[in-house]
Order: sequence, then structure tokens, then C-alpha cells
Amino acid sequence: MKRIVILISGRGSNMQAIVQRCVQQRWPAVVAAVIANRQGAEGLEFAAAHGIQTAVVDHRAYVSRAAFDEALAAAIDPFAPDLIVLAGFMRILGDGFVQRHAGRLLNIHPSLLPAFPGLHTHRRALAAGCKVVGATVHFVTPELDHGPIVMQSAVPVLPGDDEEALAARVLATEHVIYPQAVRWFVEDRLVIENGLVRQLDGAVQVLL
Ligand code: GRF
Repeated sequence: MKRIVILISGRGSNMQAIVQRCVQQRWPAVVAAVIANRQGAEGLEFAAAHGIQTAVVDHRAYVSRAAFDEALAAAIDPFAPDLIVLAGFMRILGDGFVQRHAGRLLNIHPSLLPAFPGLHTHRRALAAGCKVVGATVHFVTPELDHGPIVMQSAVPVLPGDDEEALAARVLATEHVIYPQAVRWFVEDRLVIENGLVRQLDGAVQVLL
């Protein structure tokens, strides 16, 4: 059984999708803990209601990123995770933390990386006149919103779309591709070769 720790900052809908698929599809894995950097993170309630251990490491209580990273690592380590899943986790993790967990740290970003790393992706995509947008699950490297791409989803930008409409259309696909990517990881179906992620069964790594 692989052990998963999920980090959230708010709503946690991606976390919920992962928890539900893990149980429904009987992955060889267990979500051992959900940890938030905000006391009121809505997703914590869902996790607790599903018998998952929760913890809060409030970034505001630490003077530096390094001190926060250290406290976060101390909260994570007792769960001995094989995989750490960043699911709407809105803090940048320092190089030390990322390097320590290299190859077992996944993130989802609501854009077709390498386009639009960082914040306000949907606003920026609309401003750029993009006709297609999407989401990306990737292994985390020290560079923000970079790293080997596991899976992407793509959806059209439709006439009259605003930021909210686009975010909702992309989020629905996140709930499909993130559980899929995590499942592949816990089933040992992913390899990273020269910075590229290959699914060992040749499964299609895109949702269109
Ligand atoms: C998602 O769009 C995710 O891609 C982004 O933040 C949002 C988090 O949503 N990083 P949730 O907390 O998983 O509901």
C-alpha cells in the first residue's frame, strides 16, 4: 500500500476527487493525511469526515519560507508518504523541500503548461485570446509550475466565456486527470526519462 499525503489551501475539490477515486477504484494506496496551510481550509472538513487525519501548518506563524518548509516537513514526515500531492496548495515550496521529495511530489496547475505559470491563468488566457485552455499535472521541480508533465486536459474557450466559466470548465477536467495521474503513480505506471513522463502501458496522457 502506497501512502499519500495531500496538501491543500482551500476548497480541496481535487483532494476530494482523489480520495473518492482511491476508495472506489481500490487503488493500492491510502490517503494518510490532508494538511493545510490555512486553519479554515474548507477541504479539511471533508477529509476529517472521511476518517483521514488532518493537520494545519499556518504559514503566517513562520518568519521565513525555510522555517515554514521545515514545519511542513515535520508535519508530513510521520505519515511516511510515498507521494505528496499538491492540490490547490497556494504556497511556494523552497528548493530544499522540493529536492528532498523529488520524484514523489505532484502538482496540478490550471493551464496548459508551459503557458501561464503562476496566478490568474484563466484571466491571462482570455486576455491572450486563447482558443483552447486546460490543466496540467506535473512532477514538481524547484522552478514554479515547471517539471515533467504527467497528464494534460484541454477544453475550448467559448464565446462569452468569463474567468469563472473558464475556471469551472477546466476544474471539471482537473477532477478527472489528477486522480488518473495519482493512480498511475501509486500503481508504478510512470517513469521519467530525460525529463519526460511516460505511462508504461502506453495510455494516452491527455484528456480532450
Ligand atoms: C485548482 O484549479 C487548481 O488547479 C489550482 O487551484 C484550484 C484548487 O481547487 N491550483 P481545489 O482546492 O482543488 O478545489
